[in-house]
Amino acid sequence: MSKRKDRKQTEELFESVSQLAGGGQPGLPQTHEAETFNDAGHTNVPIADEALANSKELAPVLASALPGLRQMKKFRFQLLHQWMLAHLQPGRVADVGGGKGLLTYLLRQSGWPATVIDPVPQALPTKFKDLTSHKQIHLAATETVPRLAQNFEPAMARDFDILVALHAHGCNIHLIEAAAQYDRRFVILPCCIIHEPIYPPLGVHWLQCVVDYATRTGFRVQPFRLNFKGQNIGLYGLPL
Ligand SMILES: C[S@@+](CC[C@H](N)C(=O)[O-])C[C@H]1O[C@@H](n2cnc3c(N)ncnc32)[C@H](O)[C@@H]1O
Repeated sequence: MSKRKDRKQTEELFESVSQLAGGGQPGLPQTHEAETFNDAGHTNVPIADEALANSKELAPVLASALPGLRQMKKFRFQLLHQWMLAHLQPGRVADVGGGKGLLTYLLRQSGWPATVIDPVPQALPTKFKDLTSHKQIHLAATETVPRLAQNFEPAMARDFDILVALHAHGCNIHLIEAAAQYDRRFVILPCCIIHEPIYPPLGVHWLQCVVDYATRTGFRVQPFRLNFKGQNIGLYGLPL
C-alpha cells in the first residue's frame, strides 16, 4: 500500500473511532474540536495535535500525523511516555505486555512508579534515543525495572492506578475489564486481534470494536495518535 493511502486510511480510522468515542456520550467533546478530558474530568486539555501546535518543547516528540510532519519510524515508547506526562495525572502504572520495559524505565525516570507485567523475561535495551536532547542514552547492563513475570490477571489492577498496554496483543479486553472492575484508568494502543476474547463483527475494525466495548463497559474513551509509523492510535479510558 502507498504511504499516502496508508495515511489516509489511518486518518479515516482515527476519525471513525473519535466519532464512536464521542458520539454516544452526551457531554464528551468531539476530538476534532481538539479537546479532551483530563483526570479531573475537565475538557480543556489539548490532544496531541493541539499540544504539538502550542508547545515548542513537545513539538519534536508529540505529534499526530499532521500535514507536513514526517512520521518517525520508531520511538513509540518515548512518544507514549511524553504523551502520558503531558496528559495524565501521575500514578502507579502497570505496563502490561511491556516487553523490554523501556516505557516503564522512562516513566520511572519521570518519577511515576511503573512496573512491567509480562510473562517473558526480557532485559532493558542497551540504548535508546532521547527525543528531547536527540542524544543516545546508554543503559548499563545492570539497569533493571520492576517486573512481574506473569500473564496479566485482573486482580493485579488493584495495585495500580493506570493500566497501559502498548501493542500488547491478547491483553486489551482483559485490561479494560480489569480497569472497570477496579475503577482504574487505562491507556491502550491495540495492534492485532490475536488471542483476544472478542472478535469484531464483519466490517467493523478492531479499534472500533475496542472503543465500543470500552464505552459499553463504562468508560469515557478519548482516542489519540502518536507520531510513529504503524499502529499509532491510542485510547485513553476514564471510568465514568
Ligand atoms: C508485541 S509485544 C509488545 C511489547 C512492547 N509493549 C512493545 O511495544 O514493544 C507483546 C508483549 O505482550 C506480552 N504478553 C503476551 N501475553 C501477555 C499476557 N497475558 N499478559 C502480559 N503480557 C503478555 C508478550 O510477552 C510480549 O512481550
